[in-house]
Amino acid sequence: MINPIYSPDSSRYDNGMKYRRCGRSGILLPEISLGLWHNFGDVNTFANSQAMAHHAFDKGITHFDLANNYGPSYGSAEETFGMIMKKSFMPYRDELFISTKAGHDMWPGPYGEWGSRKYLMTSLNQSLRRMNLDYVDIFYSHRYDPDTPLEETLQTLVDIVRQGKALYVGISKYPKAAAEFAYRYLAERDVHCLLYQGRYNIFNREPEEEGILQQAKENGTGFIAFSPLAQGLLTNRYLNGIPDDSRIAKGGFLKKEALTDETLKKIKALNEVATQRGQTLAEMALAWLLKDDMVTSVIIGASSVAQLDDNLQSIKNTKFTAEELEKINQIDSLK
Ligand SMILES: NC(=O)c1ccc[n+]([C@@H]2O[C@H](COP(=O)([O-])OP(=O)(O)OC[C@H]3O[C@@H](n4cnc5c(N)ncnc54)[C@H](OP(=O)(O)O)[C@@H]3O)[C@@H](O)[C@H]2O)c1
Repeated sequence: MINPIYSPDSSRYDNGMKYRRCGRSGILLPEISLGLWHNFGDVNTFANSQAMAHHAFDKGITHFDLANNYGPSYGSAEETFGMIMKKSFMPYRDELFISTKAGHDMWPGPYGEWGSRKYLMTSLNQSLRRMNLDYVDIFYSHRYDPDTPLEETLQTLVDIVRQGKALYVGISKYPKAAAEFAYRYLAERDVHCLLYQGRYNIFNREPEEEGILQQAKENGTGFIAFSPLAQGLLTNRYLNGIPDDSRIAKGGFLKKEALTDETLKKIKALNEVATQRGQTLAEMALAWLLKDDMVTSVIIGASSVAQLDDNLQSIKNTKFTAEELEKINQIDSLK
C-alpha cells in the first residue's frame, strides 16, 4: 500500500502546546517532548511509530529525543526516525529539534561505549546516517565516564559543535561535580551547555534532592526530565495487574520486581489524588513536574497515540494546592 503523503495539522502551533525557554538560550522547547527509547525499534510496528510521531508534531511537539542505542535492536529507533524523516518530516526539518546521544553500550569492542573521542565522533556519524540528517540539534554525552578524562569527552562535544554536526550539546545523568566541571569547560570554549537530561518523577526526586536542578538553573542550562512516568508506573497501566502488552510484561528495563505491594499502594493512592484533580494519574504526574519552572520539558514515552493524547492533557493544569503537594509527598513516603 502506498503511504498517503503526510500533511501536518496547519494549526499545530495553536493546539494548546506551551513552549518554555531553555535556560539562558534562544531555544524554546515544548513542555512535552517525545522520547523514542521504546516503541520505535525494529521489533515494533512502523505504522504505530509513525502515527505517534505524526500525532506529536500535529500537536506542537517539536522535540524528539533519541540515542544511538534506542530500539531494540540498537540503532533501530534512529532508523525508524530516519524513515519518518524521509517519508514525511523532511520538509519540516527546520521546525524540529532532534537530539541524539552516545555513552551507553552500542557496538562490541573497546570503542563502542563510554566517553572517548573515538566513540562519540564515530557514533554521531552513524546516528546522522541512520536518521537521514546532516546535523542534530543537540548531541549529549549520555553518561559520565569515570575512566576517560572529562576534558577528552567535553572537547569532543566542543569539536562536534565546531564541525556543525550538532547545534548544541548537553549532558545526561552526570554527577553534580562532573556537571559543574562540564558547564565551566564548555563555557570557556564558548559552547554553552544547553540541557541537562536527568531522571525525575514523583518516585525519583534526585535532581531536586542533589541540587542538580538548581545548579542547571544557575548555569543557564535547561533541565529536561526523562522517565517522567517512572516508565509507566505513574499511570493507570498497573492498577489492576500487569497487562500483556505493557513494558513490564515485555520484560526489559522495567522489571516485575519494581511493582511491589508498597509501590502499588502508592500508585493507587496517587491515582485518587489525580481523580480529585480531574486528571488521570499520568496527567498529574507530568503536571507535578511542570509545576516547577526549572523543568524546561518532560520527555515522555508512549506506546500508542491514545497515551500520547492523554499526556498532552497534562499541560492544561500544572497548578497544585499546598494540600495536594503535601498529600503527594505523604503518599510517596509511605512504607
Ligand atoms: N538520558 C537517559 O539516560 C534516558 C534514560 C531513559 C529514557 N530517556 C528518554 O526519556 C524518554 C521517556 O522515557 P520513558 O519511556 O521511560 O518515559 P515514561 O513516560 O516514564 O514511560 C513511558 C511508558 O509509560 C506508559 N505510558 C505513557 N503514557 C501513558 C498514559 N497516558 N497512560 C498509561 N500508560 C502510559 C507506556 O508504557 P507501555 O509501554 O507499558 O504502554 C510508556 O511506554 C525515552 O524515550 C528517552 O528519550 C533518557
